[in-house]
Amino acid sequence: MPNCLDKKTDGQVIEVFDTQIFSPTHPDIAAIALQQEQPSIHGNTVWEASFVLMDFLQQFPISNASRVLEIGCGWGVLTSYMAKQVNGMVSGLDADNAVRPFFDYHANANQVSIEFIYGTMQRMTKQKLLAFDVIVAGDICFWDSLKKDWQNLIRRALKAGVREIYISDPGRPPFWDLVEYAEQHFAAEIWSHDTQQPHYIEQYVLEITR
Ligand SMILES: C[S@@+](CC[C@H](N)C(=O)[O-])C[C@H]1O[C@@H](n2cnc3c(N)ncnc32)[C@H](O)[C@@H]1O
Repeated sequence: MPNCLDKKTDGQVIEVFDTQIFSPTHPDIAAIALQQEQPSIHGNTVWEASFVLMDFLQQFPISNASRVLEIGCGWGVLTSYMAKQVNGMVSGLDADNAVRPFFDYHANANQVSIEFIYGTMQRMTKQKLLAFDVIVAGDICFWDSLKKDWQNLIRRALKAGVREIYISDPGRPPFWDLVEYAEQHFAAEIWSHDTQQPHYIEQYVLEITR
């Protein structure tokens, strides 16, 4: 999957909505990458879908003190942003434990207290989802198998009382299948949304409410 954050932010730290983001070639990040096993499920950088969702939630904020779960959090940039925005309990879940040091680095740099949960969305039971009001996710519907995982996760989450779910995506085929399913089975809306931060990006946000 191509990603232009690397080229456009080579070796830099950028700031988007008061959140610091370190590029893969920043010396600290490169040093972490050298010390450990590489992320293997595309968690090797920060994806543009996170910026689109940050911009969307900047315009349509989540209520203060919400308990938020980011699914497929990768380096935790959106998780860090949410912690600043909602001032509540915010966690990031990822199936790849190799992203954890990058997640921790961004949490420290942004001075936020966020929890990393190692696991898959498939293992997030209704019981575990009771702990959250809102779910966010950026670019995690890239395989056909993931759309079924999302359908089941959304169903469990709504039953558990999660009141809002936001999934941003560049518009890959499994995402459009999920959108179609969500429009048929849930209270869902699809938005085209663009941001100028850190550069012009236009993607999609699927919003599901209880
Ligand atoms: C394309 S990256 C996006 C990362 C981050 N959301 C961003 O925008 O920078 C997808 C992330 O989802 C994680 N992931 C993939 N399948 C998953 C699953 N079934 N449950 C939880 N996380 C998963 C990967 O490990 C990876 O970190």
